[in-house]
Amino acid sequence: SAINVFQAALLQASITNDRGAQFCGGSLYQGRYIVTAAHCVDFIASPSEVAVLVGNRTLSTTSQGKRIEVTSIKIHPAWNPNSEDSDVAVLTLAETVTTPKSAVLAARGSDPAAGTINTVSGWGNTESTPAYPTELRSVDVPVVSRTTCNGASSYGGAVSSTMYCAGATGKDSCQGDSGGPATTSSSSSTPYNTLTGIVSWGNGCADAGFPGVYARVGDPANYDFIVAATQDPTNG
Ligand code: ARG
Repeated sequence: SAINVFQAALLQASITNDRGAQFCGGSLYQGRYIVTAAHCVDFIASPSEVAVLVGNRTLSTTSQGKRIEVTSIKIHPAWNPNSEDSDVAVLTLAETVTTPKSAVLAARGSDPAAGTINTVSGWGNTESTPAYPTELRSVDVPVVSRTTCNGASSYGGAVSSTMYCAGATGKDSCQGDSGGPATTSSSSSTPYNTLTGIVSWGNGCADAGFPGVYARVGDPANYDFIVAATQDPTNG
């Protein structure tokens, strides 16, 4: 699977060890924002509690990337922690970076077709006995139709149009990957540059019949929220 170069790590700002500080993923957007999941940041009292690591594949005390302060946190106004609807947030960084490359948003209104391959990445749990890797991991997973995913032996109707499913038995995102990217390719010359989904929730991890559930970036309200949150003149 490809490397999601715009992968970011959300860190607890007070912890200097990156591996110890990492609690979620995110995607660099326009060099100055991080698109992540609302559930990753809805409990944060102040943006100063969060820092972001960009350009890094290894979480260690001597990191190759850049740790950047967060100046604002915006949560989708329709975020619903009970239904997990609209699980999208945007962080503003204290500085603009030119490397790595930023993500491209999936088209407004787009909904990934069943079978489309997504590359999903993060530093989240890789085992049933929790194991958190230091190196960024990624996996290719097929999109599962909303109809199948809402079946009686799967999520039984819990997957709304602000979400979509992707995964296969043994292949999934997991705890610690939340907020991170699920990507597709807009062309062969720009592999996996398009942010199609945001790691959101699931029943267990990689279990048969229960794929990962992703916030759908192409959902019109999700898309419009991201665009508005990254164009607000009060962001500077
Ligand atoms: N909510 C989890 C987190 O906070 C992500 C769960 C994703 N689960 C899954 N089976 N894909 O890290």
